[in-house]
Amino acid sequence: MTEEIITHSSEETIGWGREFAKRLQPPVLVLLTGDLGTGKTTLTKGLVSGLGAATENDVTSPTFTLVHVYGKQAQAKVYHADLYRIESFHDFETLGLEDVFATPAVAILEWSEKFPLPSPWPLVRIRLEHLGADSRRISVLGTS
Ligand SMILES: Nc1ncnc2c1ncn2[C@@H]1O[C@H](COP(=O)(O)OP(=O)(O)O)[C@@H](O)[C@H]1O
Ligand SMILES: [Mg+2]
Repeated sequence: MTEEIITHSSEETIGWGREFAKRLQPPVLVLLTGDLGTGKTTLTKGLVSGLGAATENDVTSPTFTLVHVYGKQAQAKVYHADLYRIESFHDFETLGLEDVFATPAVAILEWSEKFPLPSPWPLVRIRLEHLGADSRRISVLGTS
């Protein structure tokens, strides 16, 4: 069954992400889909801060840097990657995302639909949609 929530501000989306983070047990791959500006990075601020890996202000878009890693030494790492600017399968491969799966972590992927990443880990798919102005629909499309 799809779980849905509508948020009306970025703060609300971050807050939902913080709560949802409690359900993420490493190893897990979180796939975020949704158009530009729907709030994938904003939601990630909530997920990462909820996991205690960084503060929400430390979480910025990996659009250009492609992969960010958060987390203190003693805890599982949180990877945050964005495939938006990845244009070819070759570029995708050079990201080395398979290495992420070497140790149990939480991996959060924006624009995951661009390239299917074979994952040995359980998946959580979250879709974000614009509903106009500051409203967004967040759907948890299931876990596997
Ligand atoms: N309800 C909401 N949830 C998330 N972001 C929102 C919301 N309302 C407005 N925003 C704004 O929308 C933008 C979302 O940007 P961002 O998180 O970078 O999106 P994406 O990573 O999907 O491209 C931010 O400027 C944020 O402040
Ligand atoms: Mg983004």
